[in-house]
Amino acid sequence: MAHLDELIQKVSNVKDKLSLQNLKSELLGKNSQINQEFKKLGSLSEEERKAKASDLNNQKQRINEAIENKFKELEKLEINQKLQKEKVDVTLPARERPNGKIHPVSQVIDEISSIFSEVGFSVAEGPDVETEYNNFTALNTPENHPARDMHDTFYLDENKKILLRTHTSPVQIRTMLSGKPPFKIIVPGRTYRCDSDQTHAPMFHQLEGLHIDKGINMGHLKGCLDYFIKEFFEVKKIQMRFRPSHFPFTEPSAEVDIGYRMENGRIIVGEGNKWLEILGCGMVHPNVLKNAKVDTKKFQGYAFGMGIDRLAMLKYGINDLRSFFEADYRWLNYFGFDPLDVPTNYRGLSR
Ligand code: DAH
Repeated sequence: MAHLDELIQKVSNVKDKLSLQNLKSELLGKNSQINQEFKKLGSLSEEERKAKASDLNNQKQRINEAIENKFKELEKLEINQKLQKEKVDVTLPARERPNGKIHPVSQVIDEISSIFSEVGFSVAEGPDVETEYNNFTALNTPENHPARDMHDTFYLDENKKILLRTHTSPVQIRTMLSGKPPFKIIVPGRTYRCDSDQTHAPMFHQLEGLHIDKGINMGHLKGCLDYFIKEFFEVKKIQMRFRPSHFPFTEPSAEVDIGYRMENGRIIVGEGNKWLEILGCGMVHPNVLKNAKVDTKKFQGYAFGMGIDRLAMLKYGINDLRSFFEADYRWLNYFGFDPLDVPTNYRGLSR
């Protein structure tokens, strides 16, 4: 049998765990020399057997120990190599990830909501698919009223009973029918008309306002709009003009223009001698209140409606409405907002 020291040397020369495993069965397994030696013990005299057995056990133990130590050594080596290979350099600059952008329409809806919430309005919503009743009839717009033509409505059934809402005004009806006055709400949302050019898209966004309470008058309406327009355009002074108009759901009705001037192709709101129409409004028609089960002897109020996309175009200098809805990532990257940009009107944090 090979000399013990040689065997132990063999163990210490091993370079990996698999070879060590193989060597282990070679040295101590069934067919190992040492095992053969053990088998021969039976043929020896008792004395010789004892001496030989203890010698063999000794050798076996030393080989085992050597293998175990080698195993630990290889294990350690493996871990160290792994650590070396998988080392993370925490000082490397972070990989850049493209950030999403907030669409100007979403941004403006957030700004508008925070401005109106400052003076007690809450946000209400309604479905895009409406009944003809909520969209027209309940809003005092009778069957043959020209407004139904003008709206150029997307009807969803042959009987013209279901449609894509042409304005956010039906949410006035829904809100009043589902609660008790007073009401003080704004309604941002999608609206639809068969229309498409540089300033019209078949789907667009409106903002409705409704304030019903005891003794509400046009002065309140004027004060509210004056506050909103100043806050939204971030100006201290505005010129505002109420032009008599007609809407079936308000009496009296007005359209509101704001004064502006042009500077390097951009609109400057609040000064100048040009007028820009931005919204429709009026005192809610008693017929609308009756349809919405509001006691007209006790309650009255004002309503207004404006185009959100147009407000966004004015404030952020965007000149083609259709670009809002083309989902062009380059456009959004340019005109969009970073998620963590605090809107200047968000008073909670910035003032
Ligand atoms: N619904 C009108 C439209 O789409 C806008 C409007 C005008 C809403 C006057 C109102 C209002 O609430 O009082 O053109």
